[in-house]
Amino acid sequence: MSEQSQNSGKPADPCVMVIFGATGDLTKRKLFPALYNLAKSNLLSREFAIVCTGRTETTTEAFREQISQDIKKFATSEVTDEIWDWFKQRIYYIGGDVKSADFYQKLRELLAQVDQSHGTRRNYFYYLAIAPQFFGEVVRQLTAAGLTQEENNQWRRVIIEKPFGHDLESARALNAEIRQVIDERQIYRIDHYLGKETVQNLLVFRFGNGLFEPIWNRRYIDHVQITASETVGVEKRGGYYETSGAMRDMIPNHLFQLVSLTAMEPPISFDANAVRDEQSKVLHAIAPILPEEVLTRAVRGQYGEGLVKGEKALGYRQEEQVSPTSATETYVALKLTVDNWRWAGVPFYLRTGKHLPKRVTEIAIQFKSAPLMLFRDTGIDRLRTNRLVIHIQPDEGISLRFGAKIPGPIMRIGAVEMDFNYIDYFGSVPSTGYERLLYDCMVGDATLFQRADMVEAGWRVIEPVLDVWKALPPRSFPNYPAGTWGPKEADELLERDGREWRPIE
Ligand code: BG6
Repeated sequence: MSEQSQNSGKPADPCVMVIFGATGDLTKRKLFPALYNLAKSNLLSREFAIVCTGRTETTTEAFREQISQDIKKFATSEVTDEIWDWFKQRIYYIGGDVKSADFYQKLRELLAQVDQSHGTRRNYFYYLAIAPQFFGEVVRQLTAAGLTQEENNQWRRVIIEKPFGHDLESARALNAEIRQVIDERQIYRIDHYLGKETVQNLLVFRFGNGLFEPIWNRRYIDHVQITASETVGVEKRGGYYETSGAMRDMIPNHLFQLVSLTAMEPPISFDANAVRDEQSKVLHAIAPILPEEVLTRAVRGQYGEGLVKGEKALGYRQEEQVSPTSATETYVALKLTVDNWRWAGVPFYLRTGKHLPKRVTEIAIQFKSAPLMLFRDTGIDRLRTNRLVIHIQPDEGISLRFGAKIPGPIMRIGAVEMDFNYIDYFGSVPSTGYERLLYDCMVGDATLFQRADMVEAGWRVIEPVLDVWKALPPRSFPNYPAGTWGPKEADELLERDGREWRPIE
């Protein structure tokens, strides 16, 4: 490696993080381990505290003890006594009902005490890790209790977890409800895909190099494939998943983030709104799939029983809290087009599903073939095309396939891969994927958070598909055995265009 840039981040502003729904899984699995990593890297202010809230009534002492146990299990880096003791002393717990105004008065009093004890300067950010039906209510109540107003140079921000709405109309209504009481600038709609290193690297890869941008368009690119496959099934989340399905769970949020970062124009700066303006333009340029196109451009699937990594897996309809006649999809494949000057005529194929054979998230850029078949008199009648794959997880890296002459007296061409693996160059950095997002919120950088218009644009694209699917329940479910690459219709989606999914080994 010839050059290396070190993280030059300064500690974030003094502040209090208030977690709603702090007794849930996200807090122990991701938020505390992420905050701990930030503390370890000196990226938290010394004037920092955390107020946890939940329905359970417990004491701060008992909560601190519980978290001290959990962190041993979920930390992604070694937990040292020195850092943990410092950290633990700034955790507070307050139980209560988020629908009751009294709760917010108690919260306000606690925050005033915490400000006194830790010098947190009345800067607060609220992390809503609660059921989505409470998002609007909590923000309204916080405002009524005077806890979102920004006066005397204090800042107040709200991080909202997905799902943000259930469809276009509910997302619009939620945006309107929240923006009635706080400003868009205070809202941080989180999408944890943007916390992944390789996703952030997409911007650097595209705009920090002169090499790729000139060929990043319809003239050189044949099509793009984005895959987010999971080996897990719905696990214990059947109740939620029945109301969501793979489409709502993954497409308008995580996969559209990948589409927009892949397809966006260079922003005029790295200012949050400059970047998000360009992402938003891409999302607006995706042509909604019309009702009459749903059959040919959208595929849904549901897993039946099967074998995943050698283990027997139940069918979706046999999972806990799932209806035995469920019509919920656990797999989606889509063919999208981005109707703008750069991408006209270049299909973007997306696929995501549960209980597939491998856990992989990647973006494959398939280039067009060489313009002239120069080797046709040599026995080579078909050249493999160039393909660039951005590996997001579990391996992080980038690989490029190109043709090379196979050594020997006969002209033969083989496809070779040039691989860059993050870990080889930069080692492995212990991360939960939430560090950067939490830090950015504490320093007021909303670049990696979704803006209202982006969320709405995402729903607009998939809404017609959801409507058609609802009106025409699937007759073939379950249509793929757990542990296979989805329904055969997903292969046909590409075969109709003379293409195929990149095989993932
Ligand atoms: C979540 C979805 O947002 O993302 C889950 O609700 C999914 O269903 C998860 O499993 C995937 O995230 P990751 O980081 O494991 O790819």
